[in-house]
Amino acid sequence: MTDTTRTAPHGGIVCITGATAGFGAATARRFTADGWRIIATGRRQDRLDVLAAELGDGNCLPLCFDVRDADAVQAALGNLPEAWRAVDVLVNNAGLALGLEPAHRCSLDDWTTMVDTNIKGLLHVTRALLPGMVERRRGHVINLGSITGTYAYPGANVYGGTKAFVMQFSRGLRADLHGTGVRVTNIEPGLAESEFSVVRFGGDADRAARLYEGASALRPEDIAATIAWAVSCPAHVNVNRIEVMPTSQSFGALPVHRA
Ligand SMILES: NC(=O)c1ccc[n+]([C@@H]2O[C@H](COP(=O)([O-])OP(=O)(O)OC[C@H]3O[C@@H](n4cnc5c(N)ncnc54)[C@H](OP(=O)(O)O)[C@@H]3O)[C@@H](O)[C@H]2O)c1
Repeated sequence: MTDTTRTAPHGGIVCITGATAGFGAATARRFTADGWRIIATGRRQDRLDVLAAELGDGNCLPLCFDVRDADAVQAALGNLPEAWRAVDVLVNNAGLALGLEPAHRCSLDDWTTMVDTNIKGLLHVTRALLPGMVERRRGHVINLGSITGTYAYPGANVYGGTKAFVMQFSRGLRADLHGTGVRVTNIEPGLAESEFSVVRFGGDADRAARLYEGASALRPEDIAATIAWAVSCPAHVNVNRIEVMPTSQSFGALPVHRA
């Protein structure tokens, strides 16, 4: 008799938030190549249309909404077409950092946007799709945390705080989903080249390019491969956390200010 709890899931439906760029777009491409169907979400309809055309008819359901808008999330994900309802994998990837200023000089609006997107947006999407996974006793929630959720660096303040929330929420989900068969993995990348820093620096592409110059940063495809590996593990294996950095990045000293 086949023990299905020991079989790797393959070829189901994966819902990816923030599929219009970076990790999300790379993950959509990777899972399509591996035979999955993709629900691709983001705020930029034009990017979603291009991606859907690239992934092919029937392989991609593009859904345009802002994860911060709880009603819009529920309207889109709570009313999926029948053929797209049984989501196997949710990749909670939509997120952003804004600014690198010290806390006493940061914009309060930027802080609010990060909390609303990285925390509340992730909660809106998770709450919309999790009940179905529990009902089917099958599913995998992949959350995009960051090394910044564990290690502080100057200017990460609220961004790091949101990713610490994501890490702890992932653990909490594991506890709540005990016995349901639904898996949870928190992916915690270090420096990775995407549109992330352009967004962080308010559209300053030159400043972002300088950050990545010569750094051999992680590529979105590396994160897509990491996610694909976690999902490809047999159903009885739950990878709780994956911390992944470019080889070029490591840890610094803890500075001491002397009077
Ligand atoms: N790059 C890094 O160094 C790094 C390291 C660790 C963790 N991360 C995390 O990894 C995730 C993906 O980052 P990335 O590097 O791929 O960044 P990216 O290239 O800037 O992509 C971010 C994606 O999030 C979407 N998004 C942002 N705000 C949204 C909102 N309010 N509603 C819906 N979608 C929204 C964007 O789509 P639209 O603009 O079309 O809405 C875009 O598709 C983020 O959670 C980020 O914090 C990144």
